[in-house]
Amino acid sequence: MVAATPIARESGQRQLLGINLYPGGHAPLFMGHHGQMHTQRQGGSTVPDIPAHTHRRVSSFRSRRAALTEAQQEAWDRLWPRIGMLARPTESGDKEHGEPLDTEAWFSRTAPLVLEIGCGTGTSTLAMAAAEPDIDVIAVEVYRRGLAQLLCAIDREAISNIRLIRGDGIDVLEHLVRPGSLTGVRMFFPDPWPKSRHHKRRLFQPPTVALITGRLRPGGVLHVATDHRGYAEQIAVVGNAEPGLRPARPGEPLAISTERPATKYESKARHAGDAVNEFLWVKQP
Ligand SMILES: C[S@@+](CC[C@H](N)C(=O)[O-])C[C@H]1O[C@@H](n2cnc3c(N)ncnc32)[C@H](O)[C@@H]1O
Repeated sequence: MVAATPIARESGQRQLLGINLYPGGHAPLFMGHHGQMHTQRQGGSTVPDIPAHTHRRVSSFRSRRAALTEAQQEAWDRLWPRIGMLARPTESGDKEHGEPLDTEAWFSRTAPLVLEIGCGTGTSTLAMAAAEPDIDVIAVEVYRRGLAQLLCAIDREAISNIRLIRGDGIDVLEHLVRPGSLTGVRMFFPDPWPKSRHHKRRLFQPPTVALITGRLRPGGVLHVATDHRGYAEQIAVVGNAEPGLRPARPGEPLAISTERPATKYESKARHAGDAVNEFLWVKQP
């Protein structure tokens, strides 16, 4: 698979699209993550269970109500204390984070670590972790019901190499992940925020990519997919402009698998005749 030149997946095929507008060139300016705080409702209450950020930034996600089914609540109560945690330890939002995560203690082993940001209901997370049992995966999501669905699937399929963090992936990268510790970062179908006035809410911005690059180990992989053409162009520009990354070469052996299952976004894109663009970068030594 190639990288900074996006790959289109149509009808199950992958092909080069050639819309890599500025390979190795300069990125236009995009807004950073500074702006509004957000709150999240849960179970109909107005309690902000995703604590607000200490510094204000535009959030890349929407608040969604998250009533769980009985089965999801049962799985949550039973499994969350062991395999889940909040990105921010308090609800006040103004308390400092503690130490970065001791992932070896959390997984009870030493293994390459992948962070997936915005895992949704975890379709890709589950399939990719099951296919690579020697790699540990931390899935980050703000949407509680999505995480609950993933928890139920982890339980049902007895998967042991996934851990969950509820909250903002930027918080996780900034405070919980050590520099140079990740073998991979996955971002599949990040919200495209199609209206121009909302582009500042897109997750894939230069500061985020710089942060991700700092958390990757040399040879670590950044894998991104989107079905939104305009966002694909931005992703190509921003990723290619990050000096710590280089596009993966065609056929190059990579530290993690890049085989993704088809998710609902794939099916929707195919139905609408849209291409899915896929990007792979490797952290420079
Ligand atoms: C369009 S969905 C894609 C879900 C999943 N990756 C898939 O392919 O099915 C994007 C998800 O990213 C989550 N998200 C957006 N910004 C996030 C952030 N900063 N931290 C964690 N999750 C985020 C949203 O809540 C949403 O569930």
